[in-house]
Amino acid sequence: MLLNILKYPDPFLKTKAKTVDVVTDELRELLDNMLKTMYVEGGIGLAATQVGVAKRVVVLDIPITTEDEYGDEQSEQGKNVLKLVNPVITDESGETTYEEGCLSVPGVRADVKRSAELRLQAMDEDGKDVEIHATGLLAIAIQHEVDHLNGVLFIDRLGLVKRDLIKRRLKKAAAAKAEDIADAKAEKAVL
Ligand code: NI
Repeated sequence: MLLNILKYPDPFLKTKAKTVDVVTDELRELLDNMLKTMYVEGGIGLAATQVGVAKRVVVLDIPITTEDEYGDEQSEQGKNVLKLVNPVITDESGETTYEEGCLSVPGVRADVKRSAELRLQAMDEDGKDVEIHATGLLAIAIQHEVDHLNGVLFIDRLGLVKRDLIKRRLKKAAAAKAEDIADAKAEKAVL
């Protein structure tokens, strides 16, 4: 089942998600549905908060990029799937900057400063403890997703001026869209 991804400025995105006590079949189904939704929407990570569920679970899949015989980049999904329950970053070091985007903040990309390397403890989808050492894009994506579980968006990590500019633009766009929908409904009511 595909899930609906909440978009900024939906207030639910500010929710601090709750720790999962037991990994159930229901939770595994949620993780599967999140992964499917993430692929359809073209993301590499998705947190439960983004689909309106206040549980500390995230899915990730950093695609493997290789070159084909013509030198064109091919990216392969499904090789790096992570389904993490109660992820906790236990250690982080270094600094890196990456131009991030987010399925909940469509059309916006901005440079965000993060730790370059981290260690993370979590449970997998069988409820077993896992420990992950991450660098590169995986480390960045993990920090982005854990932020979501704490109600933080990547645009919240930008400088004040840039953040305000982006937020104002997004709110205006959302209001215009709501007006369009209202207009369309009004038209229908007349007919
Ligand atoms: Ni995101």
